[in-house]
Amino acid sequence: MTHSPTGPAAPDTAAQLAATAAMLAERIPAFLPQPSGPAHRLLQALHYSTRGGKRVRAFITINAAATFGLDAEAVLPAAVAIEFIHAASLIHDDMPCIDDSPLRRGVPSCHEQFDQHTALLAGDALFIRAFELVAQVRSDVAGPQAVLRVIAELAEAIGALGLIGGEAADIEAEKQAPDPDTLSFIHTNKTAKLIIASARTGAILAAAPQDGLAAITDYARSLGLLFQITDDILDATGTEEQLGKPAGADDAAHKMTYPALLGLAGATEKARQEADLAIDAARRLPSNNQLWTNLVELVLDRDK
Ligand code: IPE
Ligand code: IPE
Ligand code: MG
Ligand code: MG
Ligand code: MG
Repeated sequence: MTHSPTGPAAPDTAAQLAATAAMLAERIPAFLPQPSGPAHRLLQALHYSTRGGKRVRAFITINAAATFGLDAEAVLPAAVAIEFIHAASLIHDDMPCIDDSPLRRGVPSCHEQFDQHTALLAGDALFIRAFELVAQVRSDVAGPQAVLRVIAELAEAIGALGLIGGEAADIEAEKQAPDPDTLSFIHTNKTAKLIIASARTGAILAAAPQDGLAAITDYARSLGLLFQITDDILDATGTEEQLGKPAGADDAAHKMTYPALLGLAGATEKARQEADLAIDAARRLPSNNQLWTNLVELVLDRDK
């Protein structure tokens, strides 16, 4: 290990993340229409699928904004938008035509609780609602140029050359033997790009300077890769009860993962390498350096 443990500060960051999750649990319903009328099942599904979760991406958006001087309340709609995009990606990821997974966040997946057409449309609606929210960021928080830049970057991060392309490659790769280039493509696109966009959204809205934006981008790229590597490791080592989603699913579906490519020890080593890269980038940030370092250690050591 090239970096010393973070010591007693890490629990504070865990508590802060939990506080963000609790705040979002309370605030998110107001960002969605109340279920009523002929589409009430769809609206119920939006509420259902935006509950729970660790809220790591919103935490990153809020703290990226704070690192460059913008407060949490100002950036809340954008942070909620990021969580809506993430929730949409999970709804579709779980569907029978993708990962065919019946459990998410400890409860039935959207298509299990409702049905496939509702899940498909709920994912679509959450992707779209996210852009509506970002477009409504108040002009006293960020100017129209910053808002447009966030919209363009978010669209790119989750489109065919981003998350959705990564999901496509992930499914195609079930038929292939693991190779480092394909695996790096999958993890970068399906997971790291949204985590990078989460950080950049906060930073851009806060008018971060170029060098700060570069530092938080490098940080989030490594954290994002680390996040998916630890997700892969947990799939291989965790239990369904612990994870709130099925365990051992990647192996059963012949997924291309780091444990499949390198074995568990090799994947763990790779996780540590990405963690060290993220910590190096965190040192270049203008403030909150300890929080960002602690977040790396939390993701590295997570058990769900
Ligand atoms: C799961 O993301 C999907 C991946 C990209 C690995 P999270 O582990 O952040 O899921 P929640 O939001 O906490 O449920
Ligand atoms: C999904 O990766 C990443 C997304 C973009 C949804 P996984 O398929 O490994 O995520 P989990 O394990 O189902 O949460
Ligand atoms: Mg998947
Ligand atoms: Mg999945
Ligand atoms: Mg997984």
